[in-house]
Amino acid sequence: MSGTTDTSGTTGTTGTAGAGPVRDAEALRARALAALTAARSRTALLTDCVGDGELTAQHSPLMSPLVWDLAHIGNQEEQWLWRTVAGREALRPEIDPLYDAFAHPRAERPSLPLLPPAEARAYASDVRNRVLDVLAEARLDGSPLVDSGFAFGMIAQHEQQHDETMLITHQLRRGPAVLDAPPPPAHPSGPLPEEVLVPGGPFTMGTSDEPWALDNERPAHVRTVPAFHIDVLPVTNGSYLAFMADGGYTDPRWWHPDGWAQIREHGIVAPLFWHQEGGRWLRRRFGTTEPVPEDEPVLHVSWYEADAYARWAGRRLPTEAEWEKAARHDPVAGRSRRYPWGDADPGPEHANLGQRHLRPARAGSYPAGASPLGVRQLIGDVWEWTASDFLPYPGFRAFPYKEYSEVFFGPGHKVLRGGSFAVDAVACRGTFRNWDLPVRRQIFAGFRTARSAELD
Ligand code: AVJ
Ligand code: FE
Repeated sequence: MSGTTDTSGTTGTTGTAGAGPVRDAEALRARALAALTAARSRTALLTDCVGDGELTAQHSPLMSPLVWDLAHIGNQEEQWLWRTVAGREALRPEIDPLYDAFAHPRAERPSLPLLPPAEARAYASDVRNRVLDVLAEARLDGSPLVDSGFAFGMIAQHEQQHDETMLITHQLRRGPAVLDAPPPPAHPSGPLPEEVLVPGGPFTMGTSDEPWALDNERPAHVRTVPAFHIDVLPVTNGSYLAFMADGGYTDPRWWHPDGWAQIREHGIVAPLFWHQEGGRWLRRRFGTTEPVPEDEPVLHVSWYEADAYARWAGRRLPTEAEWEKAARHDPVAGRSRRYPWGDADPGPEHANLGQRHLRPARAGSYPAGASPLGVRQLIGDVWEWTASDFLPYPGFRAFPYKEYSEVFFGPGHKVLRGGSFAVDAVACRGTFRNWDLPVRRQIFAGFRTARSAELD
């Protein structure tokens, strides 16, 4: 990903991690090529490190077999770039229903006649070779689907999203470690304030001109957000352990009734992948068991657990608008930035993204990624649960298909923001919106807390 800085001073006028301020078609082609290539090498790494038996096995009923993700990645690419953008004949129309995420729930996918690993690989690489020819020739203007290379960027993001999904499958898989990565860099920092005050008033939420932003991030619109305080850091394992030690999981006062029912029914007493041994909490992480590090952001908690912790702490989860204002609003310039640190694409100094490290960085890391008000680690490390339901922005239009966002809008899904160590920069922006069911714990999610300023 080449780093570009937009210093034009306007609200997200140009640029994206992946499409940048560049309008030149050849530069757009190079960016699309780089994004597609980076996604494919990550996909290869995640699927070449295990044998065929592990690719076709279902490691959890919550997840697809890895070989399903692999062919689904190729099938989406075929549908959007080969068939729709290039207008060519379907290569394997008979397999479409197998890889339609809406036709078969994840738990059913292992019993489908899926392409075996060698065929799935050959299919995905055949599609890719054809798509690279398409990319070399395609017009990158003249329709919303191809303007600024959108469809290519969308498919690179789709593959990176599945690379995060596949990493979740790796985390759920039992057995010895097959993945390895260096630990995140240590950024020793002096004492930081616990929270900052974000002044009340309007700010621009969402985007209309970030070329590769997806439909649910659009359009840009003004939101007035009353003053609030927000944590400078994500909640750490150490703080979460204090909640546990204080009987957090046994006191219904802190819990949403549905969350209380979930923890009682399943006997949940700690984050997923944690267990206690000799009075110490350990966690399993990609096949390795290790002591829970107290200074790392807590990971693998549900929305209900995050919500309960916040109530115990006398606080609450930030709303989605509060989160985005904390992440993007520049109170001096009076505009919204692309990222907390400014408009430059994410570099390794800004945020823990892209599976470079297979864990969150210690809380307080990445000083270069801080927001204007000093909020840290908003991007990368852990997805952050917000208080908000996943709803369309005013003026939302489904594009290019309703099944990306629209069918998920409603009170059933909670919004997560900011991205985790497992997501690539191409699929993570200050405006990027993720969502999931409030019971979900296998995703790479943590949280930070907030409080309204009127209570001062
Ligand atoms: C945006 C992460 C919720 O994985 O369900 C992948 C992304 N959409 N293929 C998901 C997605 C279609 C989506 N999330
Ligand atoms: Fe998908």
